[in-house]
Amino acid sequence: MKTLFLSMLTMCCFLSGVAQLKTGDITIIPEPLLLNPMPGSFVVNEQSAIQYSGKGAEKTAAFLNEYLQRNYHFKLSATTATTSKQAAQPIIKIVEASTGKPEGYILEVNTGRVYLQGDAPGLCYGLQTLIQLFPVNKHLTPATDTVKQDPYNGSIHLPGVKIQDYPRFAYRGMMLDVSRHFFPPAAIKQFIDMMVLYKFNRFHWHLTDDQGWRIEIKKYPRLQEIASVRKETIVGHHRRSTTYDGKPYGGYYTQEEVRDIVKYAAERHITIIPEIEMPGHSQAVLTAYPSFGNTKGPYEVRTTWGISKDVLNPVNDSVFTFMQDVLTEVIDLFPSQYIHIGGDECLKDRWKESAEVQRMIRRLGLKDEHALQSYFIQRIEKFVNSKGRTIIGWDEILEGGLAANATVMSWRGEDGGIAAAKQRHNVIMSPNTYLYFDYTQGQPATEPLNAAAYLPLKTAYNYEPLPPSLTPAEQRYIKGVQGNIWTEFIPDQAMLDYMVWPRALALSEIAWAQPAKKNYDRFLQKLPLELARMDYAGVNFRIPEPVGLESKVVTTSTVTVHLKPPVKGSMVYYTLNGTQPTVRSHPLTRAFTVYVPEDSAATVRCIVVLPNGRISPVYSATYVHKPFLPAISTKQGNKGIHFSLVKTPPATARQLPAKGDSTGTLPAIDIRPVPSKEFGITFTGLIKIPADDLYECHLNSDDGAILSIDDQIIVDNDGPHDLQDRSGFVPLRKGLHRIKVQYFNTGTGAWLDAGIYRDREKLNPAEVLYTGQ
Ligand code: ACM
Repeated sequence: MKTLFLSMLTMCCFLSGVAQLKTGDITIIPEPLLLNPMPGSFVVNEQSAIQYSGKGAEKTAAFLNEYLQRNYHFKLSATTATTSKQAAQPIIKIVEASTGKPEGYILEVNTGRVYLQGDAPGLCYGLQTLIQLFPVNKHLTPATDTVKQDPYNGSIHLPGVKIQDYPRFAYRGMMLDVSRHFFPPAAIKQFIDMMVLYKFNRFHWHLTDDQGWRIEIKKYPRLQEIASVRKETIVGHHRRSTTYDGKPYGGYYTQEEVRDIVKYAAERHITIIPEIEMPGHSQAVLTAYPSFGNTKGPYEVRTTWGISKDVLNPVNDSVFTFMQDVLTEVIDLFPSQYIHIGGDECLKDRWKESAEVQRMIRRLGLKDEHALQSYFIQRIEKFVNSKGRTIIGWDEILEGGLAANATVMSWRGEDGGIAAAKQRHNVIMSPNTYLYFDYTQGQPATEPLNAAAYLPLKTAYNYEPLPPSLTPAEQRYIKGVQGNIWTEFIPDQAMLDYMVWPRALALSEIAWAQPAKKNYDRFLQKLPLELARMDYAGVNFRIPEPVGLESKVVTTSTVTVHLKPPVKGSMVYYTLNGTQPTVRSHPLTRAFTVYVPEDSAATVRCIVVLPNGRISPVYSATYVHKPFLPAISTKQGNKGIHFSLVKTPPATARQLPAKGDSTGTLPAIDIRPVPSKEFGITFTGLIKIPADDLYECHLNSDDGAILSIDDQIIVDNDGPHDLQDRSGFVPLRKGLHRIKVQYFNTGTGAWLDAGIYRDREKLNPAEVLYTGQ
């Protein structure tokens, strides 16, 4: 015992002694289960060789050679047998044999060899880890004076390491909407390539929607001819714009292309789940086949975003025949066990208006239109089940009764997933509150047009898919997670990259890593290298803020600011005098000092410039040297916020009367429930501040708005204007504070986005807003 203890101790000392490679130096995303740096390194050069055993291993060897060819312009000999020549060579050995965990692998790198073992998917994931041990491939990039070139002298050093790894969740997905914007087959393959790098294994392909049908169905040629093309597209945000581009927009995948993509994905251990939307999101179908609707039409493939009231008519039996025919072809194309049938956002207006639908509801003895939707989905489920497949649908399929074997994809937060798990149905969590990658990653003023809600990297990263409100037995129904990419505001590859990365890296860690292995600060430390890798691969990811750029309350007049570039090899330039930074501003070379006299604030503004010259928007941090506003002592009322509405808007928000025409309570500071276009509204209530800290208040509004805390104006965005973003900082003590937001709108384009942020994370209105004064 003693000897063993001593020898272990010696070994630990030995390991830490040689460890110029500390654990922190080998950075893998998603974080592996066990990672131990080992002495030595393996040199890959043209003299190395690959030995493999098993079909999956042969594929892995081929993928490794493809990687080497693409990045280093050489390949290794790959054989099954140990020839005498190979025995003398450094060997990369790839063995297809289970590690005891599905999709798991072990990877060992030392001076003499690389050893990779796993089942076929495990080998695929082990290869992705191995690839992240390769140096970022700078030698292929022209030298610039801002990038220090790593020497590349014909060999590549992989650090010694021992890794044992397997995924936390069996379903690790990403959804891409190709209806709002069409992405050609090559772009889909590129998306799949990126997914596999970070160990995703489900690609949910949203193929049909109001704005275009995108898959060839041989039996219904009008889907291709009519439903796949819209005559034009809205320009800008559909809630504010009335301008259209006048250009026809279309595209669809032929069945041959679909088969090719399905095969391509399968070779990379990615299952493609096709989605055929029903009974809502079907305006494109109705355009091609108007008899499937509740009205005579005419219909047109939708040219703006948002939801259509025109849906499929369940009274017409040919609708079911049509869907079964479509699904028959779809099932033939996609081997996936899951077939996604949509089911979300089916507005019930047409069904309520229709006498024949109402008769059908009575004839079937159903409670209401929700039960009718449930009837629709259950009929489709029976058909899909008869083909040996299982349906998956958005969480609205819970309303009116869940189909017997359905899996629920929870998107309106987690509630649907929680309810489904309690009913013992499988669940995929893809809550819009954490995993909608069409939402903005930064402040509206500096981000491209997007779906508006704020969802920064940190919020995404901190998502935990197993809700604590479920018992361990119920949690077992949660099979995985998925990020959703709706493409209303994503017209092309560059914007797709921008919205997806790096948030999908955060998702990869949620999906793959054990919770104890997740750590946001460590993730931020890992990002620079991985983003540099992406940059060299030409991926247009969103450049994160420099590491350490955080607004805060300070208590002294001099503050030392430590920043790190968010991408390896990038440069940061900053200003302290309020001007916009450019490449001629101060370059970040070391920590610097900011002066913040008492009762004032100072702001660092900066840009990040990548090695390839791409420049970030301006990011900033504000240091506030002011006293905290104390919490007030009052009674916390109920959840929500009080509002007072006036029907005739004043000329400015500050002129709003104390008493409105009507009053009530809402869950959040939100004008969407207000039916009128022209109005004024005052929200008043309490906000429960979670900790002593600096809070940033934002008002993005059209027209004017004012936000006050404890009767002090913090953001003044008042006056008649188009969409405009303003913010202000306030140090707040933990506890209750009074909050007031005044807003008015004249003309069209009513818009109000009010948020309180702590360290770039938005406080959740459901957790912090209370009525009371
Ligand atoms: C959805 O976002 N409508 C599923």
